[in-house]
Amino acid sequence: QEAHAAEMERTFIAIKPDGVQRGLIAEIISRFERKGYKLMAIKLVVPTKEFAQKHYHDLKERPFFDGLCDFLSSGPVLAMVWEGEGVIKYGRKLIGATDPQKSEPGTIRGDLAVVVGRNIIHGSDGPETAKDEIALWFEPSELVSYTSNAEKWIY
Ligand code: TYD
Repeated sequence: QEAHAAEMERTFIAIKPDGVQRGLIAEIISRFERKGYKLMAIKLVVPTKEFAQKHYHDLKERPFFDGLCDFLSSGPVLAMVWEGEGVIKYGRKLIGATDPQKSEPGTIRGDLAVVVGRNIIHGSDGPETAKDEIALWFEPSELVSYTSNAEKWIY
């Protein structure tokens, strides 16, 4: 393990129940992979409503909070940790604006979603939330640290 690897930026990305049920897992993962980010952890879970409320605790005063938590806990969520330079901010760029109607074509929400309540994917919005969300969704032992060997077979 190289010393700098421990410093590498990580973000929490989740495919919400609508994205999983619409069969968009591979499509979404491939966009992060092709960009060059590295998958560090992945699991399919059905969160409880209490867990969804913890995940979205910052939004508890908002009128859509209860419906949002019902939705997140309505089916399987694909929880992931992705790593790489600028992955928090650029991950949000790949995802697009919160409202799919305002997301540019070429973004995940722009290309694949229509309404804000079913916008298929979550991504941490900053370094602090990334840290908190990774800790909420994953045990430290679920994060797989590995060194890419790509330079040995890509010329
Ligand atoms: P937010 O954290 O503001 O957006 P983002 O997911 O882009 O970080 O909101 C969390 C989720 O709440 C959002 O993905 C969809 C839902 N939501 C609504 O249902 N209605 C709304 O008006 C807003 C702002 C969000």
